[in-house]
Amino acid sequence: MPAPAVPSPPPDLSAVRVRDPYPFFAWLRRHSPAHADRRPGRPTVWQISRYDDVRALLGDGRLSKDPARVSGYVAGPTGLNRHLVHADPPDHTRLRTLVNAAFVPRRIAQLEPFIADTANRLLDRIEQHTHVDVIADFAAPLTFRMICAILGVPDELDNAATRDTLMATIAPAPGLDPARMEAGLHALLDSLIAGKRAGAERSGVDLLGALVRASDDSGAMSEEELRSTAYLLLLVGHDTTMNLIGNGMLALLRHPGEAARLTGPEAGAGLVASAVEELLRYDSPVRDATFRCAAQPFTLHGGLIAEGDIVSLLIGSANRDEARFTDADLLDVSRTPNDHLAFGFGPHFCIGAALARLEGSVAFPLLLERLGPVTLAKPADELPWRPARVMRGLAALPVVRS
Ligand code: HEM
Repeated sequence: MPAPAVPSPPPDLSAVRVRDPYPFFAWLRRHSPAHADRRPGRPTVWQISRYDDVRALLGDGRLSKDPARVSGYVAGPTGLNRHLVHADPPDHTRLRTLVNAAFVPRRIAQLEPFIADTANRLLDRIEQHTHVDVIADFAAPLTFRMICAILGVPDELDNAATRDTLMATIAPAPGLDPARMEAGLHALLDSLIAGKRAGAERSGVDLLGALVRASDDSGAMSEEELRSTAYLLLLVGHDTTMNLIGNGMLALLRHPGEAARLTGPEAGAGLVASAVEELLRYDSPVRDATFRCAAQPFTLHGGLIAEGDIVSLLIGSANRDEARFTDADLLDVSRTPNDHLAFGFGPHFCIGAALARLEGSVAFPLLLERLGPVTLAKPADELPWRPARVMRGLAALPVVRS
């Protein structure tokens, strides 16, 4: 029998993919840079792993972001997929413009004292304990509070139950009934949007109030787009940055020499800024770019990508590509230049990049300083990673303070 043109990835690399995708990604980059995953009854998924290809395709008009083009593909919760991540121009341009104003760096910079104050309050509580979960006790409440402040979510909904409702939509707990999960999510959005319509004012940016007005007064967005956008922002505004803090702290705990540089004589705003970029690159919170499919056929590395095939751009792999980054598997908090793709590239470049960078640059130095010496509470390869389609993040990061 003739040998297959493209070998299959070794099963042992696939088996540990959630915990450690990097050996699998290195195999793809080397042996099958445009790798077709074909399963009966499912659309073909192409995995693109090299930096140059991922960067080029992130902005390539031959790829569409509209999941409705792929029959049978379930993009997300029912009735909540009409947002900018799943839109092509001109809808994408219209929706992005409506959201963008709240995230311009000048406006985001004003949040710094609020971020620092919130982080310090969480650390005041943490300081009373020896066993700490960096995710549940710090990263989750901090990042959710920030997106709630920007959207204008009332205090009574800024809590762990709301976060669980949102997170269940991308990483459902085993046994959770999908219909119940969606009902909970729609009830949350009903209550939030009704609150804005009833005129509930809140201090802060109140982006959701502005979007409700844009929908009601000028029809700039439909009701479905409004609900979808609120869901998207609540979810990605929190989950991604939580993963930056979780993945980043784990990387620092596993590289104490690099962590020490951030608290030693070399420390300063410049090193913190480059450390945040390096942590984004080293263990990227968005592992695979969001949905894309081929709007027309094209060839890549000898593979024919057919119209309607899903094209998965592996950001986490691109950011470890030796062809782009010297010693790509090494963590170097002073790495420059560092043109990683952790926030994407092109027309869908992350709207929240300035916010995420600011949260990271406040959180890491404070955590290192105020937690004091800490060790992992369990071996690194036993830590629980959340199984999710796009994101890479820990369900818990338990540490012990000494
Ligand atoms: C460390 C944190 C974050 C990372 C790593 C990250 C990463 C990304 C990436 C890779 C994309 C592009 C996806 C693609 O093209 O397929 C993206 C888009 C987006 N991000 Fe972020 N993000 C982060 C934080 C945030 C925050 C805090 C917000 C605030 C709401 C946000 C809102 C968005 C939105 C709305 C888009 C869609 C933009 C569009 O489609 O035009 N992100 N992000």
